[in-house]
Amino acid sequence: MADKINWGIIGLGRIARKFAENLQLLPSARLAAVASRDIDKAIGFASEYGAAKAYGSYKELLEDKAIEVVYIATPHTFHLEHSLMALHSGKHVLCEKPLGINARQVAELQKAASQTRLFMMEALWSRFNPSIREILQRVKSGQLGKPAYLRADFAFPALDRDPSGRLLNPELGGGSLLDIGIYPVFLAYLFLGVPDEIKTVTHFGPTGIEQQIGMVFKYPQAVALLYSGLSSRSGLSAEISGTLGSIYLHPPWYKTDGYELQIGEERSQVSLPAQDNGFLYEIEEVHHCLQNRQRESNLWSLEDSHNLLGILDRVREASGIAFPGESAG
Ligand SMILES: NC(=O)c1ccc[n+]([C@@H]2O[C@H](COP(=O)([O-])OP(=O)(O)OC[C@H]3O[C@@H](n4cnc5c(N)ncnc54)[C@H](OP(=O)(O)O)[C@@H]3O)[C@@H](O)[C@H]2O)c1
Repeated sequence: MADKINWGIIGLGRIARKFAENLQLLPSARLAAVASRDIDKAIGFASEYGAAKAYGSYKELLEDKAIEVVYIATPHTFHLEHSLMALHSGKHVLCEKPLGINARQVAELQKAASQTRLFMMEALWSRFNPSIREILQRVKSGQLGKPAYLRADFAFPALDRDPSGRLLNPELGGGSLLDIGIYPVFLAYLFLGVPDEIKTVTHFGPTGIEQQIGMVFKYPQAVALLYSGLSSRSGLSAEISGTLGSIYLHPPWYKTDGYELQIGEERSQVSLPAQDNGFLYEIEEVHHCLQNRQRESNLWSLEDSHNLLGILDRVREASGIAFPGESAG
């Protein structure tokens, strides 16, 4: 493998900008090309972030032999199609969350990644946050005793946004659940696994999207209370408690810079500032995997993505959240 890893970016929206900024911070990364459906947009983006080439279609970028790994930053409903295109063009893939809009789509991607023998990972960036990694070690080593309670929320007001944009548009997998609810659900999965039972309460908005959802997950010895919404703010807080102690993640918890640890009555603060918002860590994980010829991350595997989407499917089933054109199965 060459000194630098050659990245391509597909879909030049809001998150692609943050990603490109973070790529610039890594000496081992080169932004080799970017692609938009609009060539002028691609040229502007390329000059802003120092990409060597700009393409006016995703296909052209995928035909570029210089590109090794592609970051897919299109709306949820295109992740399957664009990831398959990338894998079948011989590119490694880092695809934004959710990896597909349901577990069936993720299974299709798992199969394609296995057949093409290429690396693939969902860009579930919170998994690589230094505090979350450390907290997981503490919980696994039994410092909190038996985990019994987890709570996490993620909400911001967005109902005044463009109804055709991806947050409010059902055709683009809109609603809070797949956009931000995925994070509290991820946290419950990371610490407690796949729940036995799921209960939900939901409000739907004028465009038909789910605008607010409360979730209760039951585990053999634990309960998780989770919330996401687009109709108000929430504290962006999370905690996990066991028989011996508790951890309170500093808000916003999904990119936290530390946490409070309480064992019995004793409290201490742990500070682990996340560099430049934390997108860097998922990129480093991709580099680590490519350099070690791994086809999946040990920290966030395709099986993890499949399990996560499986839980989200059950949440949707419990609350009647459906997307247009999504066939059953
Ligand atoms: N990790 C995070 O913190 C984070 C944060 C925000 C979003 N995300 C994820 O990233 C993905 C993109 O989110 P975003 O906020 O960047 O969205 P966005 O600003 O709407 O950008 C999405 C881009 O996808 C491309 N696209 C292709 N087909 C499209 C279509 N039919 N309609 C609209 N756009 C289309 C467009 O790029 P071109 O016009 O250049 O082709 C568009 O700019 C989502 O899946 C979301 O879950 C992750």
